[in-house]
Order: sequence, then C-alpha cells, then structure tokens
Amino acid sequence: MKNRKKLLKNKNILLGVTGGVAAYKAVDLIRRLKDEEASVTVIMTDASKNFITSLSLEIASGNRVYSDLFDNPMSHINLPRNADLMVVAPATANMIGKFAGGIADDLLSTCLLSFNGKVVIAPSMNWRMYENPIVQENLERLKSIGIVQVGPEKGTLACGEEGVGRMAEVSEIMETIKSSLSSKDLSKKKIIVTAGPTREYLDPVRFISNRSSGKMGYAVARACIRRGADVILISGHSYLRTPGNLKSFISVETSQEMRDAVFKNLRGTDIVIMAAAPADFSPETKRKTKIDKMDKLNIHFKNTPDILLEIGRLRNRPLLVGFAAETGNRLDRARTKLLQKKTDIIVFNDVTSPGSGFDVDTNRITIIEKNKETPFPLMTKDEAAEAIMDAVVNSLQG
Ligand SMILES: Cc1cc2nc3c(=O)[nH]c(=O)nc-3n(C[C@H](O)[C@H](O)[C@H](O)COP(=O)(O)O)c2cc1C
Repeated sequence: MKNRKKLLKNKNILLGVTGGVAAYKAVDLIRRLKDEEASVTVIMTDASKNFITSLSLEIASGNRVYSDLFDNPMSHINLPRNADLMVVAPATANMIGKFAGGIADDLLSTCLLSFNGKVVIAPSMNWRMYENPIVQENLERLKSIGIVQVGPEKGTLACGEEGVGRMAEVSEIMETIKSSLSSKDLSKKKIIVTAGPTREYLDPVRFISNRSSGKMGYAVARACIRRGADVILISGHSYLRTPGNLKSFISVETSQEMRDAVFKNLRGTDIVIMAAAPADFSPETKRKTKIDKMDKLNIHFKNTPDILLEIGRLRNRPLLVGFAAETGNRLDRARTKLLQKKTDIIVFNDVTSPGSGFDVDTNRITIIEKNKETPFPLMTKDEAAEAIMDAVVNSLQG
C-alpha cells in the first residue's frame, strides 16, 4: 500500500500577523496548517496585539511567538533562513506599503526583506484603503517581484460597509500556500476535469440524479491548478466553492450537456479526468409540463451518453482518467472498465466503505493502470487528488 502524501508535511511556515480586524482568523489558519503537519512560527506586529493575544497564537502554533526585533538580535536572519514560505495574513495597508518600499523597522518587515523564498500576502482592509492608488501601486510592485497575493474578497466589511477588502477565506489562503510550494509539473498542460452529478429531467421540476457532491472532482481540479495546469472544470450541480485560478468553469445539468461541453473543449487538451458521476439513465421523454400526481406514471429510461467510452475510442486522444465508484470491493469491474473504455487510468473506490465515496471529505482509492495497481489508505480527497495526479504525471513521462 502506498503512503498518503501531505503537501505541507514538515514545511516550516513563517506567519506574519499584522494589525487588522482579521487578525483573529490567523488562529484558524494556524490550525489548518498544523492539520497538514506543517510547523508554524508566528511573528506579530505591535499593532496586531490590539486584535489578538500572543498567547492564542502560541497555543495554536505550539511554538514561541516572536515580535521584538531586538529581543534576539539574530531572529530577523534565523527565522527566515529556516522557513520554506512566509505568509502575511492579514496584511495591513501599512505592512504592504513598508514591504513595497523596502522599509524594515520591525521584526516582520525586516524578515520579509531578508527572506528569499516564496511570500504570500493576504491583504485585509476597508475598501477605501484597498482602492487607494498608493495601496494598489504597492501591491503591483510586490506582484512584479513575485510576491503572491490572495484576496481580498468582496463582502460586508468589519466597518459595516460593502466592498472589496475582506481577507480571503482561510481555505483560499491554504490553497495558495500549497500551490506556492507545489512543483509545477503540469505547467502548460490543458486539462479538462468533470465533477459532480448530472440531472436527468422527467418534467420541468423533477429529475433523477445521484449522491455525488463534486468533492472529488473539485479536489482534482485544485491539484491540477496547484501544479500549474490550465484547467477547465465542467461541473454538474454542486454547492462547493468554485476553485480559484481556473481557466474556465462550465456549469451543466444533464449528461448530454456535460458530453457536449467536454467535446467542445477537447481540441488541444492533454488530459481528461472524468471525476463526475453522470446519471447513467435518463427518462426517454421529458414532459413539457409538470406531471400531475394523479397521473399513472410509467417511466422508461434510456442510457445517457457514455463520455468516457466516446473519448477512449478517439484516435490521438488525450490521456484519459476515469473513476469507478462501486458498491463493494469490485476491483474486477474497475479493471474491466479500464479495458473496455480504453482509459489510461481508472480510480477505483468502494462507495459503501466507511469514509469513502459520496459527500465526505475522505476517500480510499486504488489507482488502476494497465500493468499496475496501487491501493492507498483512507485519506482526504485533496490527498487522493495528489496521488491521482502523481500517477498522471508518471504516465505522461513513461
Ligand atoms: C480598530 C482598527 C482596525 C483596523 N483595521 C485595519 C485593517 O483591517 N487593515 C489595515 O490595513 N489597517 C487596519 N487598521 C490600521 C492599522 O492597525 C494601522 O495601520 C497599524 O499601524 C498597522 O500596523 P502593522 O502593519 O504594523 O500591523 C486598523 C486600525 C484600527 C484602530
């Protein structure tokens, strides 16, 4: 059995917390980083202590919190030297300005200048401050030297006003950190990912569908983006947040719409990953008006388009990955699917096994290739997506 791969495991993250209203969210960010087995060391500015205590950050990180430039004369060199990545969340207009202007008058701003690795900043401020041309110029300047910005988002701000200035969601910041530390082994690759269920309508208000949430497909899309690919996500109905940095997002309802969207975008595509759960059957006819409940109902079904099979048959087709969601340990059915549909990889999972399958954040998969089968332990769908994309990269190279 192959081991799970945690992207941030043993990475040293240096987190700068500055004096903004979103400072309390740093605790959540630290917890999420620690969940991924990263080590987190916090540097607080003096202003941030008005918003959150160093004790909270120390308890969350399990590490000493730093703040004073002169407390240990070597901190401003040693802390950055040992870090894999620096993230400033929240990043105030003041800290952004200092960084862009090369000012180093406290521990955090000095560390930012002495660090030569990846830096992620998550600006957070009132929209008037954010829209100020000086702040925008400073952000442009930082972007031009490779500083990665995540957010801010539009929404209701702490002052009660609406506008752009709210710090990016912690999940977005996590995604940006992971992406900054990922190898870009899929850069310049065009990838289509399908996700979620399809809906097959009986009448204008009723449909048959399945329990797919889209979580696996969205995790695959995020993994592809992290690795530098241009991703088109074609999704059935899902409540999930659309991943950032997609090339395009196409929302579909029926299997036919999903098929059409895939084929419309197929030209020039290097890899297709069919993580969606299309409804395999659709009613033979869709009534134009709502079916009356007093009607005697006999529904005849037909098969929906088999998108995987159709792509598998193409000459010069892209690398093709399918999923086999089975009830029971039916690896045999997954192996047959690989051969019948002529895919390069089939990802098998037993949706009845605990923690696996629909609408949960974890999955237990086996990656089936022509001459190889790799079972994995129960892991998060993000980890499963990484394992799948490792197999794809190997397959491209081999
Ligand atoms: C109640 C209050 C809330 C503030 N919130 C923010 C904020 O969200 N973003 C920001 O850029 N500045 C904010 N400021 C201003 C900063 O705290 C101020 O610019 C400070 O000098 C920042 O210091 P630092 O960058 O060293 O942490 C706020 C100030 C106050 C009094």
